[in-house]
Amino acid sequence: MKKALFHSLFAALAALVPCSQTRAADEITLYTQRHYEFDESVHRLFTEKTGIVVKVVKAASDELIVRLQEEGANTPADLYMTADGGGLDRAKKAGLLQPFTSPVILEKVPATLRDPESQWVALTKRARVLIYSPARVKPGELSTYEDLADPKWRGRLAARSSSNIYNQSLMTTVIEANGAEAAGAWAAAVRKNMVRPPQGGDRDQIRAVSSGLADVAISNTYYLGLLEASDDQTDREAAAAVKIFFPNQEGRGAHVNISGAGIVKSSKKAALATQFLEFLLSDEIQSMYAEETMEYPVSETAKWSDIQLKWGKFVADDVAFSVLGDRNAEAVRLFNEAGWE
Ligand code: FE2
Repeated sequence: MKKALFHSLFAALAALVPCSQTRAADEITLYTQRHYEFDESVHRLFTEKTGIVVKVVKAASDELIVRLQEEGANTPADLYMTADGGGLDRAKKAGLLQPFTSPVILEKVPATLRDPESQWVALTKRARVLIYSPARVKPGELSTYEDLADPKWRGRLAARSSSNIYNQSLMTTVIEANGAEAAGAWAAAVRKNMVRPPQGGDRDQIRAVSSGLADVAISNTYYLGLLEASDDQTDREAAAAVKIFFPNQEGRGAHVNISGAGIVKSSKKAALATQFLEFLLSDEIQSMYAEETMEYPVSETAKWSDIQLKWGKFVADDVAFSVLGDRNAEAVRLFNEAGWE
C-alpha cells in the first residue's frame, strides 16, 4: 500500500516537474495566415500536452513574408504558416526558412507534400472545386475548369475576387496546363460568364448558388463542409441545396492546395517548433482537422470526416507547389488584364 502510494506520488511528481520547468520558459511564436477558430483549440491542446505556449500573429501570407524580411534576425517568429503552397515556396526562396530534421515528419508526410529540402511541410490539403445547383445543372454538363469559359455559362457563375490567393494559385495551374495566353483568355471568358462582379468569400459563392442567383460557383471543399456541419440552420440549408463537383477528373485532376508551415531561419527554438509540427501531424490532430475544419489530412493513416467520405476520392492535380509560387505574379497580371477584379 505504502509502496503503491510512493509510486503514484513519484509518478505525479515526475509528471509535474518537467512540466513546470517548461511552462516557465517555453513559448513559440507562430506567424500564420490561417484564420480558423479551430487552430486556437489545437494550440491549447499542444500547450496542455507539452507546456509549450503558442503565441500567434495573424496576417495575409505575403504580409507575413514582408514582415519576416523586415524583422530579419530580430524576428520573434519561430514558425511561418500559410494556407497556400505558393506562400511556402516564396518564403523558402526568400531565404526565410531553415530545414527541419524530423524522422517523424519524413515518415508521416508523402514526399510530394513537403519541400525536397525539408524547409516546409504540408499540414492539410484542400481541393478547389465546383459547387453547383442540381436543380439547374446536370452533373454531365460539368467537366473542367476550362469549360467554365464556355458561353453556355453566361450569367450563371459566381467566384470571389482575383486578389484572393486561392484563385491566384488555381490560375497558376491553368497557366501551367494551357500556357499564359490561353489562361488569360480563360480568365476573361469566365469573368464574362459571372452573374455579378466578384465579391465575398467562398462561402458567399456557395450561398449564391443555393439562393438561386448563380448555377455554379468556385470554392474550396472545406467551406462546403463547414456549411453542412454548421450550427446555423440557414448554413445547413444552403449546403443541402448544392452539390460538389471535382473538375478535370479525366485529365490533370482537381486543383489541390495545401496549408503548411516551415521553421523560420533565425529561430533558436527549432526543436520546439519541430515538436509543434510533429504534434500537428499526429493522427489525432490530423483526424480532428478532417472533422473540424473539413480540410483533408496529409497523413494517410488519419481518418477523413463522414462528409469527406461522402464526397469521395478524386483525382488531384499533382503539379509541384513551387509552380504556385513561381507563377503567382504572372497569374495576378493575367487576372488584371482579363478584367477579373
Ligand atoms: Fe480559407
